[in-house]
Amino acid sequence: MKITSQFLREKFLSFFEERGHAVISSASLIPENDPSVLFTTAGMHPLIPYLLGQKHPAGRRLTDVQKCVRTGDIEEVGDDSHLTFFEMLGNWSLGDYFNHESIAWSYEFLTSKRYLGLDADRLSVTVFAGDDDAPRDEDSAKVWEQCGIPKERIYYLPKKNNWWIAGTTGPCGPDTEIFWDTGKAPCSDKCDPSCDCGKYLEIWNNVFMQFNRQADGTYLPLAQKNVDTGMGLERTVCVLNGMDSVYDIDVFQGALEKICQLSGKQYGADAKTTRAMRIIADHVRTAVFLLGDPVGVVPSNVDQGYVLRRLIRRAVRMCNTLDMPKGSVSQIAKVYIEVYGDVYCELSQNADKIVSELDKEEERFSKTLVAGEKEFFKVISHIPGKIVPGGTAFKLYDTFGFPVEMTVELARENGYDVDVEGFRQKFAEHQAKSHAGSEQRFKGGMAEGGGIETTRLHTATHLLQAALRRVLGDEVKQKGSNITPERLRFDFSFSRPMTAEEIAETERLVNEAIERKIPVTCEEMPIEEARKTGAIGLFGDRYGEVVKVYTIGDFSKEICGGPHAENTGELGHFVITKEQSSSAGVRRIKAELRK
Ligand code: SER
Repeated sequence: MKITSQFLREKFLSFFEERGHAVISSASLIPENDPSVLFTTAGMHPLIPYLLGQKHPAGRRLTDVQKCVRTGDIEEVGDDSHLTFFEMLGNWSLGDYFNHESIAWSYEFLTSKRYLGLDADRLSVTVFAGDDDAPRDEDSAKVWEQCGIPKERIYYLPKKNNWWIAGTTGPCGPDTEIFWDTGKAPCSDKCDPSCDCGKYLEIWNNVFMQFNRQADGTYLPLAQKNVDTGMGLERTVCVLNGMDSVYDIDVFQGALEKICQLSGKQYGADAKTTRAMRIIADHVRTAVFLLGDPVGVVPSNVDQGYVLRRLIRRAVRMCNTLDMPKGSVSQIAKVYIEVYGDVYCELSQNADKIVSELDKEEERFSKTLVAGEKEFFKVISHIPGKIVPGGTAFKLYDTFGFPVEMTVELARENGYDVDVEGFRQKFAEHQAKSHAGSEQRFKGGMAEGGGIETTRLHTATHLLQAALRRVLGDEVKQKGSNITPERLRFDFSFSRPMTAEEIAETERLVNEAIERKIPVTCEEMPIEEARKTGAIGLFGDRYGEVVKVYTIGDFSKEICGGPHAENTGELGHFVITKEQSSSAGVRRIKAELRK
């Protein structure tokens, strides 16, 4: 049976409605009264006050399909699985039922012939293994067994895998995750649902929220025990249909056909074309939902408006690479308004605004896109190294309207890096001059929310680079860095996967530096002098340029625009969550700071 998005939405909501849940509509993509994040990133986000104990007008059992935007992995969009917009199906108990009912209902919904009718033999589950903060969740495991999942398909995993929190403070708790076995052979005899070889794909997460994590890292019991479940709609439709890519599901077909028609090219013709088409399909869809949102965002240079601008401009640039005519973006948008108009009536209601804002933004950017690209190629033909100076990135931003991330992408496509720190410095100088509140812009544009957490992660990134150079040698050089309030991501040159011992040693060195509570100091000096001190970092090419050098005791010395934590003791516990390949000769680490 082929499962469509609408089938899954309807089945899910009616299943929980029949079990006493009120169907509530999706909240806005722009969080109300929460300046710490730019977008609603999970179904639980708008419900936080109710998870903390406030009474919800619709009752204590709710079900919904929540619109979400997550742009932390935006550079990975174009592969088989990443999306910047997605819908999340959820059922909620606000101090009503708990894990027993939640698990039994999940099992029934997935396996009963009246609902999804999935083969129970292809389901595996994970539960929380327990630690100092909360006990091993044997109770949930028992309920799974009673449902019919045999012991050998119930896996106990640590906090890294089976604990859910939005950000770093607030309601949280152990979770149980449900995985679909794709039928592929296991990658090794250690292969389990925590492995990302592709055998097991997560389809549903049930969180048993019973703690409120404080800023100091302690867990206080919540006034009530809640259930928060989340099922990513696009992903689940993809997995259950046995498709390889999320772009194969129904909601993208109209837009992809339109893109093929407008470009005269075939989807799947080659990897580059496929990636460009997927980026357009993804970014235009997200832009449609942001522009059509009841709170409403328009392209700008700050906060949500900046992210929207980035999405639209990147889509326009991709359309350009595929030789698509002017106005393509809004034509694709019209397809989405049609596809989603019945489910999200705000899109039909705001159709004119969506189309006209997209046309306006495309018009503004088209004027400078070609000239900006010309400028970019002129500059790179003259620079000696493989690094585009911060000043050039700033000129492309300021004069040609290139979001810096786009310059980075353009540079990568041509085998160059960008001195992003140098760009930030230029940006900050410019903002200070124009008294336009650079902090605000910085927050929205660059780091996407969460001041203090991103600052700490930024300092942790310096410690990580220093530790990697100690463990793996000086071959390690930064190739890229990206920080969201939840995690850091660090790309570096290194020719093979790290071993488990090397990862553990790197973590240990970083944590040791944190435990030593080393002060972080900053000095400004001309770039030549910085070079002599042995500071690492991307060097611009301007003689006499003054740079900031951040020093962390005898551990790290790096050229960087900041800001940083004042002392490593503020950082918390450093954990590497992933080590993987990024591109040829480049590894990627994702890491978090935990209390
Ligand atoms: N909050 C959990 C998640 O986003 C479950 O909804 O995965």
